[in-house]
Amino acid sequence: MIIGGVTKSFGDFTALNNVSLEINKGEFFSLLGPSGCGKTTLLRIIAGFEYPDNGTVVIDGADVLHLPPNRRQVNTVFQNYALFPHLTVFENVAFPLRIRHLSGPEVVSRVNEYLRLVQLENHAQKKPNQLSGGQKQRVAIARSLINEPRVLLLDEPLSALDAKLRQHMLIELDQIHDKIGVTFIYVTHDQQEALSVSDRLAVMDQGNILQTGTPHEIYESPATNFVARFIGETNLFNAAVIKAEKLDRPEGEDEYMAELDIPVLGRVKVTTVDEIKPGQEVSFTVRPEKIVISKEKPATKRADINLFSGTVDEPIYSGFQTKFYVRVREDSLFRVIKQHANYSDEGPDILWKDDVFLSWSADDGYIVGINKS
Ligand SMILES: Nc1ncnc2c1ncn2[C@@H]1O[C@H](COP(=O)(O)OP(=O)(O)O)[C@@H](O)[C@H]1O
Ligand SMILES: [Mg+2]
Repeated sequence: MIIGGVTKSFGDFTALNNVSLEINKGEFFSLLGPSGCGKTTLLRIIAGFEYPDNGTVVIDGADVLHLPPNRRQVNTVFQNYALFPHLTVFENVAFPLRIRHLSGPEVVSRVNEYLRLVQLENHAQKKPNQLSGGQKQRVAIARSLINEPRVLLLDEPLSALDAKLRQHMLIELDQIHDKIGVTFIYVTHDQQEALSVSDRLAVMDQGNILQTGTPHEIYESPATNFVARFIGETNLFNAAVIKAEKLDRPEGEDEYMAELDIPVLGRVKVTTVDEIKPGQEVSFTVRPEKIVISKEKPATKRADINLFSGTVDEPIYSGFQTKFYVRVREDSLFRVIKQHANYSDEGPDILWKDDVFLSWSADDGYIVGINKS
C-alpha cells in the first residue's frame, strides 16, 4: 500500500501535512504519535470516510481514492468495539456475510472458523453485555476479518482495556496477524505497544511523519529530538561539534568519530553516520540503559569511553531494575537504568547521595536533530 503526499486541512488547521508511507503486503505496521497528531484522520482517509485535499492512496497497485469505503476491502476495528448489543456473538460476526446474502451453511462454517481464530467458539450464543472487554474486542476483530479485507485498520483498539489485559490482547493480535497474513495498520499513542508488535512503524507529530523504520531502528537511532524523547526515556543535550574524523572502515556506510562540547556537561565522544562539521549545533542523546553506573572508577583505558562522575539524586527501585537520577553538574541530571541480574555480578548497593561514575562508549550515544545552518 502506498500513501503518497496526503494532505488534509480542517479550515485553516493542517491535520496531515504531505504524509507519504509505503506499507508492505502482510506487514504489521504501526502509526505512533501523541493524541491529536493526525493518526485517526489518516486511517479515515485510507478507509474512505474522509477525502484528502491532496495525495493518493494505492492498494495492491490500484488507486482507491475514488472508491466508497465498502468497495476498498479495508476494514476498521475501533476502540469502542461498535458491536450490535441485541445480536449474539455469532450474529455480530455473521453480519457482514448476511449483508452479502451468503447461504446458511456457508455463514455457519465461516463464522465458526473466525470464532476459532479469536478463541470465542464457546461464546457464540452470548450477547455483548455478557462478555469482558477483551472478548468484545475479539468479536469486533472477527467481524472485521470475516470478509477477508486486504487491509485491517486498528484505531487504538486496546485502549479501553486495563494494562495487563492489553499486554495479553496484543500478543493475541500478533498471533492472529501471523495466522492470516493480512496487512495490519495499528494506531496507538503507546510506544511500548508499537515497539513490541510492529514489523515497522512510523512516528508522527503534528500531521508529519518524523521517522519510519523497524522498532530497533527507531529506538536505537531516533532521527529527531521528538522521536528520541517520545520513544522510551532518554538523556538529551544541546551540543556543538568540536571535531569530526572519518573512521577507517573498509566497507559499508561512512562513519565519523565526533567530539562534542555539551555546555552543561563537557566533552563527549560519539560515532555517527551523519556528515557533520566543526561548529555545527546538534542534539546528543544516550539511552539510560546504555550507561554503566558504578561506585568504583571503571578500569578501562579505551579512548572511545565517555566517563563522568556524579552524585545519586534519587534511586528508584522497581524489582528487576533500578533507575537512578545522577547529577553530574548543576544543570545536568542523567537518567540511568541498571538491570538487576544476579547477586554475584551486582557489586555494592548504590544509594542516595553516593558518589558514582557513569560511563558509556562512543557507539552508544547518538547525534540527533542536526541544525544544518
Ligand atoms: N472533522 C474534523 N473537523 C475539525 N478538526 C478535526 C476533524 N477531525 C480531526 N480534527 C483535528 O485534527 C487533529 C488530528 O485529529 P486525529 O486525526 O483524530 O488525531 P489522533 O487520532 O492522532 O489523536 C486534531 O487536532 C483534531 O481536533
Ligand atoms: Mg485517534
